[in-house]
Amino acid sequence: MIRAATSDDAQAICDLVNYYAERGRMLHRSLESIYESLRDFLVCKEQERVVGCVAVSICWKDLGEVRSLAVAPDCQGKGIGRKLVEQAAEVARQIGLRRIFALTYETKFFASAGFRVVDREALPTKVWRDCIYCPRADACDEIAMILDLT
Ligand SMILES: CC(C)(COP(=O)(O)OP(=O)(O)OC[C@H]1O[C@@H](n2cnc3c(N)ncnc32)[C@H](O)[C@@H]1OP(=O)(O)O)[C@@H](O)C(=O)NCCC(=O)NCCS
Repeated sequence: MIRAATSDDAQAICDLVNYYAERGRMLHRSLESIYESLRDFLVCKEQERVVGCVAVSICWKDLGEVRSLAVAPDCQGKGIGRKLVEQAAEVARQIGLRRIFALTYETKFFASAGFRVVDREALPTKVWRDCIYCPRADACDEIAMILDLT
């Protein structure tokens, strides 16, 4: 079941995201930053366990970012990631956003969800606000991908 995150989910979201951050696949998030942006998060729960999460953050009038998408290692390949991204797109539509983007290494996954690769320079500067926290800030190899919602 996918639903908006509650404060009870924050620690599990943090653990899930940082499991992949420790393996160099995602940006690390502090528990504090998860609480600060908790209203951006959706979670997928199976028997009370958080098995997946995603956040949509608003960047600008018509642009949002899909962030912190993660599915527990033992739950991958069952369509949970796809459902989380579809639900995130629906949330973004309801807010009035026209495009959502992701900065990712998982290009095949996002392409299968309808995203296309765009030139990173096409995104507004504000998008790079978190780069100062990233160990790869000077050698970023994440790919920018975008989904039109209209
Ligand atoms: C990327 C991730 C969220 C995908 O979640 P998932 O639940 O395993 O993906 P799904 O089962 O919904 O797969 C949806 C589609 O993407 C494909 N896919 C998923 N991961 C893929 C990968 N690594 N490479 C190629 N294709 C992939 C699936 O085959 C499926 O294709 P289909 O619809 O044609 O059958 C998950 O692998 C993950 O948590 N990865 C680690 C964290 C991460 O990198 N997050 C992205 C940060 S931007």
